[in-house]
Amino acid sequence: MSNWQELESKYFMHTVNRVPVTLVKGEGARVWDDEGKEYLDFVAGWAVNSLGHCHPAVAEATAEQAHTLVQTSNQFYTVPQLQLAELLIQNSCLDKIFFCNSGAEAGEGAVKLARRYGKLNLNGAYEVITAMNSFHGRTLAMTAATGQPKFQEPYLPLSVGFVNAEYNNIEAIKAATTNQTCAVMLEPIEAEGGVIIPDDKYLAAVRVWCDQKGILLILDEIQTGVGRVGTLFAYEQYGIEPDIMTLAKGLGSGVPIGAILAKDEASVFVPGDHGSTFGGNVLACAVSYATLRFIIDNDIAGNAKRVGEYFITRLEGLKKKFQFITDVRGRGLLLALEFNSDIGQEVLTACLEGGLLVNRLKPNALRFMPPLIIGNEEVDEAIGILDKALGSVASA
Ligand SMILES: Cc1ncc(COP(=O)(O)O)c(C=O)c1O
Repeated sequence: MSNWQELESKYFMHTVNRVPVTLVKGEGARVWDDEGKEYLDFVAGWAVNSLGHCHPAVAEATAEQAHTLVQTSNQFYTVPQLQLAELLIQNSCLDKIFFCNSGAEAGEGAVKLARRYGKLNLNGAYEVITAMNSFHGRTLAMTAATGQPKFQEPYLPLSVGFVNAEYNNIEAIKAATTNQTCAVMLEPIEAEGGVIIPDDKYLAAVRVWCDQKGILLILDEIQTGVGRVGTLFAYEQYGIEPDIMTLAKGLGSGVPIGAILAKDEASVFVPGDHGSTFGGNVLACAVSYATLRFIIDNDIAGNAKRVGEYFITRLEGLKKKFQFITDVRGRGLLLALEFNSDIGQEVLTACLEGGLLVNRLKPNALRFMPPLIIGNEEVDEAIGILDKALGSVASA
């Protein structure tokens, strides 16, 4: 263990059990630790480094903006913020935007917007229906939105105004709807909850229900958005449009940024209703603009789709070879591998030794969320390491 890792246990609140690796450098889909060991990075900052590490477009935009203007307040206009807003609006079905700094903050703002809408249009309705097994972030309100008891129980009583209904079950949403409901908030794919893909017709049915009831549909595309699942936004694959959409993670390819996007009708904030000191920070917006420009101009979402499909076929190959793999699932470059027992940590450790970073999604499952710029060669390399890792766990 290096000295850096000893410092962590001395100084940090123990909120995470880290993998015993200190990363010091990255390039593309590769990172290096403080002992010079190279890894293929299929975690990508938890689905953040969409263009990989230190992509030239990102590095140049960061350097240039750092030498130009980094932060103003939102009392003033700044060009990168406006350019990013225009690019996002022109490439989505939404009309208006608010920038913040993280996913949880985007979720908070989206719920505030829905409550504001409820006050104005639904006799003060304020409840938001979210799904069981969902994940929307770690703030107090987003803990209530997140339908997983393990995240909620340490913080009871929860913030009021959230009802958790079963995912992929339109009847559960209908049953949870009352005259106090102002919105339904869902992930198009439950990502942290296990990479759970709903039935093709589920979101369309929720859309119809929300329209019938006059309530808003919020899609949390914090993990699925910006190309991750093979289209710029996941909603495109379900033939529906949300009233509100939240983004973060891959939007800045590594710089912290979040966004709330809304249709004109749902965009009901007035001056003073919501705000953020760093939200729309010029540096973050310039880097995010460079990221999104590159993603759109180079059809990086299409790459994620193609490489993701290849990755799935290779994972299916492993499933045939190793009987203890029970499931391969996912879309684009958000994929999961499930086992019939809790060997996730052992496989992760064996992958680490082989030079591959993966995420343990659950005790019995791994998640892969590599940079969206990878090709089939990186997939082949990862499969080679994974194959050996699975073999070593199987024979242990
Ligand atoms: C779907 C979804 N929503 C919200 C969040 C919270 O984002 P952040 O960690 O940036 O607050 C996450 C993080 O994993 C997420 O996957």
